[in-house]
Amino acid sequence: MSNDVGLGQMLEVAVAAAREAGALQKQKLWSDFSLSFKGEVDIVTEVDRACEEMIVNRIRSAFPSHSFLAEENLYADGDPAWRWVIDPLDGTTNYAHGFPWFCVSIALERQGELTLGVIYHCMMDELFTTTRGGGAFLNGAPIHVSSRQPLRQSLIATGFPYDAARGNENNFRNFFELQLAARGVRRAGAAALDLAYVAAGRLDGYWECKLKPWDVAAGALLVREAGGTVTNHKGEPHRIDDHRILATNGLIHDEIETLLERAEKAEPVL
Ligand code: IPD
Ligand code: CA
Ligand code: CA
Repeated sequence: MSNDVGLGQMLEVAVAAAREAGALQKQKLWSDFSLSFKGEVDIVTEVDRACEEMIVNRIRSAFPSHSFLAEENLYADGDPAWRWVIDPLDGTTNYAHGFPWFCVSIALERQGELTLGVIYHCMMDELFTTTRGGGAFLNGAPIHVSSRQPLRQSLIATGFPYDAARGNENNFRNFFELQLAARGVRRAGAAALDLAYVAAGRLDGYWECKLKPWDVAAGALLVREAGGTVTNHKGEPHRIDDHRILATNGLIHDEIETLLERAEKAEPVL
């Protein structure tokens, strides 16, 4: 059935779902919502769960045969040829602390290939959309990665895993090298928005480790469609189940990759 349905219609459904979830996020922010612990540091709020339910229900009612990979729940198998990859609320720690930097991220894979992506930042009412081969857009206007280089004059971003205090892949050595080499490194706490900002040319590059497919699926397609380069830390083509990502405007990619390689071979900071 799904083969008859145009990509445009799928994008419309994804946008409606993202906007609906975003509205709930905005409404509940700074209210008294409940939260629980997934790990020592890693939390989930009732808003994460409610948003996921909302998004999955909306997409499922339009495309009942499709399958889902979403952060908060396992879903019964559907047609593996069409898989939605969903982070209902990227930036949960920010959200739980009332720090208004978070988003919804929804992507669709067709036969394992990213085919559309939507990232919605409700607090700024910014909707990033992309379809494979169709370009990248912010609130309907085309976006493109920056043309800034070299790294010394670039603003880049990263994030740290929840288990950074314990893990051997805590990103601290990478951060140390890149903070010294770039104009600045930001750490805002929502991977999907970091990628959207690279696509929009507001950041020149972004790298991170220990990510999950739902953190990067929509953003990786967005960056590529905005003319950027997305690889793992070795410069190999990025797949969404790679846990390391490097996404840039293309012009500073090699510089960052070289520093990451050097840092990843060095003694860990912690
Ligand atoms: C997290 C955010 C954060 C990144 C973490 C992710 P969540 O996702 O994207 O920026 O550094 O690695 O797990 O838990 O807020 O959806
Ligand atoms: Ca996430
Ligand atoms: Ca999340």
